[in-house]
Amino acid sequence: MKAKLIRSSPQLKLGESPVWIDGVLYYVDILGGKIYAYNGSVRVLYSGDVIPFIVPCSDGIVFGTRDSIRHLSLDKMIVETLFTVNLPGNVRFNDGKCDKNGFLFAGTMDINETSPSGKLYRFGTREETVLNDITISNGTIWDFERKIMYYIDSPRRKIRVFDYDTDKSMIISEKQGIDVSSFAGVPDGMTIDSEGNLYVAFYGGNGIIKFNVEGDAMKKIFVGVKNVTSCIFGDDDLKTIYITTASDKNGNGGHLYRFKNDVPGVESSSFKFIS
Ligand code: BGC
Ligand code: CA
Repeated sequence: MKAKLIRSSPQLKLGESPVWIDGVLYYVDILGGKIYAYNGSVRVLYSGDVIPFIVPCSDGIVFGTRDSIRHLSLDKMIVETLFTVNLPGNVRFNDGKCDKNGFLFAGTMDINETSPSGKLYRFGTREETVLNDITISNGTIWDFERKIMYYIDSPRRKIRVFDYDTDKSMIISEKQGIDVSSFAGVPDGMTIDSEGNLYVAFYGGNGIIKFNVEGDAMKKIFVGVKNVTSCIFGDDDLKTIYITTASDKNGNGGHLYRFKNDVPGVESSSFKFIS
């Protein structure tokens, strides 16, 4: 199984955080500091400094910077800072996602990718710490029906699994995770389909691996480049997996890919201003 290159997509340093909102695929170049929009062709929606992630919200997009969470209104293109976090100099935000109640879970990483100086935070009205000792925070996703949160700290090469309180939007306890150390690369971004299967991007591993609810690897979607960073379901039937990639040291990678899947995905949840 092979994903197809979207030829019109520009080559990015670190393509990431794909989100499907109302018929448009949004994604970022973290290090290039840009938000892109794709619906047949790609345009730059917003330029800033580092932009590690985006999530939908009722009237636009919420995005991360090195140390803050901001709101971009898509009609007025006005940016407003929602939260600023006091982070050490070697730490920046990385991936972020919202649960069904509208809480944003966004994590941080050590820029040198070696020390566990990052954390996973939850943002509703304020900043709260969910997990400590994280090196590269990635891949948060929920199976709300099964009351589970999945999470990745990339260098640990494991998908962490938590029982999740879907009323309080809090993790309850950690269960046995899914060891992915036998696969090439490290796990990065991930998404979930309507049957609860996970689709995990492997940075350095040339593809996306599908895991069922028992944690068994079911199939690999090969992507023609090494650094596969994240994926999201899109199109009207939510059956197309859009895949972001990053450039490798030989200058390959960084474009968008797509793959037609048999099972549809679930919509991304939006950030809600919780007061
Ligand atoms: C980070 C990268 C990192 C990669 C692989 C990404 O989410 O933004 O800096 O190299 O994960 O762990
Ligand atoms: Ca990532």
